[in-house]
Amino acid sequence: MNRLQEKYPTEIENTLAKYPPDQKRAAVMPLLYLAQREYGYISKQALQEISEILDVPVTEIGQLVGFYTLYHDQPGGKYRIQVCTDLPCALRGAEEFLEQLCENLGIRVGETTPDGLITIEAVMCLAGCDRAPLFQVQTAEGLTYHENQSVESAMKLIRTWQSIP
Ligand code: FES
Repeated sequence: MNRLQEKYPTEIENTLAKYPPDQKRAAVMPLLYLAQREYGYISKQALQEISEILDVPVTEIGQLVGFYTLYHDQPGGKYRIQVCTDLPCALRGAEEFLEQLCENLGIRVGETTPDGLITIEAVMCLAGCDRAPLFQVQTAEGLTYHENQSVESAMKLIRTWQSIP
């Protein structure tokens, strides 16, 4: 069963219509976005379904998922905090920031808090190198950026999420 095709035939058709029939593989990014919205992450099942729709090998699509920080191959928390630890940010203390943030939350990089609320990840450059420590937060609603952070300011933000019933 191809769940994406069954649930979103019109959306998929409209997406494919934007590209010439012999280049439908170009629709891979919007279909990954659709799959992530549906499954919460890019599962093996989602990869298989996109592969069938576009007639592109699963491995090729999987490589894209690994490359882009906006796609995830594992389920995560409601809030996905992605801290840049690339070299320029590391020179501004990003690694220590990440480590202390994890310590405060009682998890390690890549893990999710037991309540399923927060996942913490280390990512490459987010184009704010002179404003580190910085991170982006991904939720189902979209993406927000938080620059010039301290562990205190990040925890203050996190506490606002924890207080939402
Ligand atoms: S290196 Fe971290 S934002 Fe560029």
